[in-house]
Amino acid sequence: MEKMPFREAQAVTDLHAVMAEARNAATTTTSDWRKALPVLTGSMVTLRELRLSDAPSLLQMLSTEEVARFISPPPTTVEGFERFIAWTHRERAAGHYVCFAVVPHGMDSAIGIFQVRQLEPSFDTAEWGFAIGSAFWGTGVFVDAAKMVIDFTFNTIRTHRLEARAAVLNGRGNAALKKLGATAEGVLRKSFLRNGEYLDQTLWTILAADWALIRQTSSIVH
Ligand SMILES: CC(C)(COP(=O)(O)OP(=O)(O)OC[C@H]1O[C@@H](n2cnc3c(N)ncnc32)[C@H](O)[C@@H]1OP(=O)(O)O)[C@@H](O)C(=O)NCCC(=O)NCCS
Repeated sequence: MEKMPFREAQAVTDLHAVMAEARNAATTTTSDWRKALPVLTGSMVTLRELRLSDAPSLLQMLSTEEVARFISPPPTTVEGFERFIAWTHRERAAGHYVCFAVVPHGMDSAIGIFQVRQLEPSFDTAEWGFAIGSAFWGTGVFVDAAKMVIDFTFNTIRTHRLEARAAVLNGRGNAALKKLGATAEGVLRKSFLRNGEYLDQTLWTILAADWALIRQTSSIVH
C-alpha cells in the first residue's frame, strides 16, 4: 500500500477517545477486531493497536528519505502522527481498515506499521502495506510481523485475496514480498505519483489458499 489512504488535511481528531480506547485494547484477545485489535506475539515483535505515545517514535522511524521514498509522504510532525493514529482507530472501528504497530520485544514504542484496508465492503479482497524504521531492516522483524498480519487477515478478517502494490524501483519492497511467497501478477503502469513523477508498480497477491500452502512448505514463514 504505497498510497496510504490517510489524508492528513481531512483528519478530525478526538485524542481523548483514542486514549480511552487504547486502554481497552490492551486487554482484548477476541477476534472482534472492530472493537479493538488483539495483541499478537511473535518471536521478535509484538503487534498491537497504535497508541498516541507511538507518535514521536513513528516520526523518527518513518520520515527518513530511505523509508519514505516509495510510499505516500508520512506526516511530518508528532501532531500529524497523532492525527494519523486517531484516524487508524476510527477506520478500524468502522470496519474498513486495520493498522498494527510493530514493537520489538524489550521496547515500548512502535518502530513500524502494517496497514490492511478493504478493497470492497466485505473485506473479501484487501490491500496491505508496511514500513519499518531502517535500523530494523534485515533483522527478521519484517517476516516475523508479516506472518502474523497475513494470518490475521486470512483467519480473522476472512479476506480471500490480499494485494500489495510496490513501485518497480523499490527493490527492497519487491524482494520482501517475493520472499514471503507472494505472486507478481503484473505491472500497473504509471499508477503511483511520487515527487511529481508517475511510477510503475508491481501488483503482488497472496490468496488464502496460497498462504495455507506457503505456511506448510516455506522455510521462510514456517
Ligand atoms: C519493505 C520493508 C518493510 C521490508 O523490511 P526489511 O527488513 O527491509 O525486509 P527483509 O530484509 O526481510 O527483506 C528484504 C529483502 O530484500 C533484499 N534486498 C535489499 N535491497 C534490495 C534491492 N535493491 N533489490 C533487490 N533486493 C533487495 C534483501 O537482501 C532481503 O532479502 P533476503 O532476506 O533474502 O536477503 C522495509 O524495507 C521498509 O520499511 N521499506 C520502506 C517502506 C517500503 O518501501 N514499504 C513497502 C511498500 S510495498
